[in-house]
Amino acid sequence: MGMIKKTLLTGVKPTGMPHVGNFLGAIRPALALAEQESYNSFLFIADYHSLTHVHKAEELRQMTYEVAATWLALGLDPEKSVFYRQSDVPEVFELNWILACFSPKGLLNRAHAYKAKLQDNQEAGRSDPDYGVNMGLFTYPLLMAADILLFSADQVPVGEDQVQHLEIARDIAQKFNNNYGPLLKVPEFLVQKESKLVPGLDGRKMSKSYGNTIPLFVPSNRLRKLVMKIKTDSSPPEAPKDPNDSLIFTLYREFASAEEVDSFADHYRRGISWGEAKEALYQVMDRTLSEPRARYEELMADTRQVDQLLLSGAERARPLAQSKLKELRKAIGL
Ligand code: TRP
Repeated sequence: MGMIKKTLLTGVKPTGMPHVGNFLGAIRPALALAEQESYNSFLFIADYHSLTHVHKAEELRQMTYEVAATWLALGLDPEKSVFYRQSDVPEVFELNWILACFSPKGLLNRAHAYKAKLQDNQEAGRSDPDYGVNMGLFTYPLLMAADILLFSADQVPVGEDQVQHLEIARDIAQKFNNNYGPLLKVPEFLVQKESKLVPGLDGRKMSKSYGNTIPLFVPSNRLRKLVMKIKTDSSPPEAPKDPNDSLIFTLYREFASAEEVDSFADHYRRGISWGEAKEALYQVMDRTLSEPRARYEELMADTRQVDQLLLSGAERARPLAQSKLKELRKAIGL
């Protein structure tokens, strides 16, 4: 008996090489979902979303490859998931316009990113409240709604910061449906607890803006150096230590087997030197990352491979997008 598969879709904005926090909080859980047989999964690089703030061609191109190569290196199977670049599916923009005509401006006025800009301007005492706001930034949630609704996504895994955008997409879909009938699938979101709080080197949440990250595919010796920089207290080597109060341990458990975690915890309670603990962490991280790192380097050295994979993903995506649009155009009277 055929099972009706749900559509899982998510977009990743290019921001350069992801770090360990991105991997544990977003990439790994999304890949685990995409692998499930119960889903048809779509994963795309939201390069046009980056254009709202990245205005250097070489930078945008490089960041796009880095993010695509990262996902592929970490095991994204482009046969199973439809993996494409947003900009290779121009149908998104036709839907974007249609949706714009069903989006009250006030809805977008309330979007967090836009409101944060308004507030910055107010705090800086600027006379123009919209200073530094381009229309791409303002309509960012609309483009995201188009990404999602075009493929009738059932479920969209996102970080907590994107939940409002999903609510906006749902709102717009409902407005459209109220007028024309249930043509747009109203998507659900799956919130990924990025706030699983992967700690950075200094113990705060790992984040580019804090400069405390461990980039995912740095060479092994550099990885080791970074791990050695993780903040620790001054307790002496032989002192018993609480595994649940240790950055090193928190990271270790994400990369090690259950038995390894147990025995590491024992070692903590018996007393472990921070140097030893860090060495053990480095070992399990390097073990997990070395193969993907090699694959990443190989892909980055031959970006034509990446282009080809992305283009063949777009070739699979476009017919679906076109048939959806055909249906919508008819419904709106074109
Ligand atoms: N805005 C998302 C982010 O910054 C990326 C994104 C673009 C997206 N389009 C999407 C995510 C569609 C999910 C679905 O992370």
